[in-house]
Amino acid sequence: MRAGTDPDRWWHGGVFYQIYPRSFADSNGDGAGDLPGIISRLDYLAELGISGIWLSPVTVSPNRDWGYDVADYCDIDPDFGTLDDLATLVEEGGRRGIRILLDLVPNHTSDQHPWFVDARTGRDAAHRDWYVWADPSPDGGPPNNWASVFGGSAWELDDASGQYFLHNFEMQQPDLNWWSEEVRNAFDDIVRFWWDRGVSGFRIDVCNMMIKDAELRDNPPATDSDPLDQQFMGLKAVYNTDRPEAHDILQRWRAISDGYDPNRLLIGETNVEQLPVLMQFYGDGHNELHGGFNFVFINSPLEAEAMRAVVEEVESTIPEGGWPIWTGSNHDVARLATRWAGGDLAKVRCALLILLSLRGTPFLYQGDEIGLTDGPIEKSDLLDAVGIRFWPYYKGRDAERTPMPWANTPGGGFTAAGVKTWLPMADPALCNVADQEADPDSVLAFTRRAIARRAQSDDLAVGAYRSLPSPENTWVYARGAGTVVVLNMSGSAKEITAPGGSIALATDRSLEGTAVHGALTVASWTGLVIEQ
Ligand code: GLC
Repeated sequence: MRAGTDPDRWWHGGVFYQIYPRSFADSNGDGAGDLPGIISRLDYLAELGISGIWLSPVTVSPNRDWGYDVADYCDIDPDFGTLDDLATLVEEGGRRGIRILLDLVPNHTSDQHPWFVDARTGRDAAHRDWYVWADPSPDGGPPNNWASVFGGSAWELDDASGQYFLHNFEMQQPDLNWWSEEVRNAFDDIVRFWWDRGVSGFRIDVCNMMIKDAELRDNPPATDSDPLDQQFMGLKAVYNTDRPEAHDILQRWRAISDGYDPNRLLIGETNVEQLPVLMQFYGDGHNELHGGFNFVFINSPLEAEAMRAVVEEVESTIPEGGWPIWTGSNHDVARLATRWAGGDLAKVRCALLILLSLRGTPFLYQGDEIGLTDGPIEKSDLLDAVGIRFWPYYKGRDAERTPMPWANTPGGGFTAAGVKTWLPMADPALCNVADQEADPDSVLAFTRRAIARRAQSDDLAVGAYRSLPSPENTWVYARGAGTVVVLNMSGSAKEITAPGGSIALATDRSLEGTAVHGALTVASWTGLVIEQ
């Protein structure tokens, strides 16, 4: 299909931006971000050139897991605003060509959700079967050996009824029973509720875990070849994750999406260790997720050979009709400027160039565009229950959730001067939007140029990917018929052969506009886009 006729061009060629609402912009001076704050920054996002926003949850939550424990799927948490604010965001975003994806959390609810409150009233409760309940094992302990992703047993005894309920995350996040037709129907309504309000789709939380083994069989012991977290737990997560029936639910939502014009996007949090498993979430390429987050790529080191191998496998195995998603940061993993780049801005620029020039849709996380590193978190600052539980062995996720620095002013442009922010904010003098807006050589200026180039170029937006030969620790690939991306991801200059043309974009701005003729000497941690 020619790019110009592709109805999905807006998001295939576009760039998404994840907002962690509590840390983006605070409009009312309470130290935490909110929807009016986001609306006030839409012009900034439009200038950045993005096509869509994924909002981490803004629905009602007691915040045991900061929004990922939902107590009402169809209303906005008062911390963030109202349904009217969300409507304004959808409308004002739309006027700027920015569509809104919400976060759908179907695996579990909050223990304060009315469904669970009812389920706990007894074995005959109307919503009892909406959750996963089981009798104790013969020795009186939990029904099986499943472990929570957040540590300890995945089962909690409900004293009143003598049964255990399942929680794959915090105890306050009981898992829904997705074998129940009533649960499925309830979520059909939730999905439609938001799509009828002009929301353009969902990022779907832990969508690979929704269905559990109907017989609740014990997980087998982990082996040396299993992922480290499973080795740590001693169990291979076979029966409480990646069950084949999860695909039926995703396909059901895709059928609903297909009834909307335009179709609403389904982007899954497909946190799987193997690319063939990720590919299953695309179904036949047309009947399941539109895109799945690629955690194999997220977890790859920032190294040419390792990343190229992931990209080549995706390119050769993704079903026709499927579209890759590329990400380096989110609210659960350290920011790419820290994790991949160790604070080195040349590496940050190369990482951004990779994300913005591969075939697929990039999701930037707020702050990636300015090279923001993780925030300063001490033990006494912790708010993430997982960090509190495992500090110092695992420090949790607060460091990647600290407030966005907008300007080098008291309050950092995030909140009013003197207000204590919900999580500590890094000194805005170190890195902030306003200073970078004034500097044509800043990371922000580079990100803007890269997104603009992508918008203008069908090759970069939707052209085919092809690896080209290049020396060790470098990565060269063609996009479409006339564009080549060259990356020197090593500590020294490299001689690289590339087609002649003109440098349309470079991590070092002084190179842009230069004509090149075949052999190039590319400086350490430098990336170029050559247009023939
Ligand atoms: C997802 C979310 C994470 C949350 C977990 C449980 O992984 O991204 O923040 O803690 O699901 O809902």
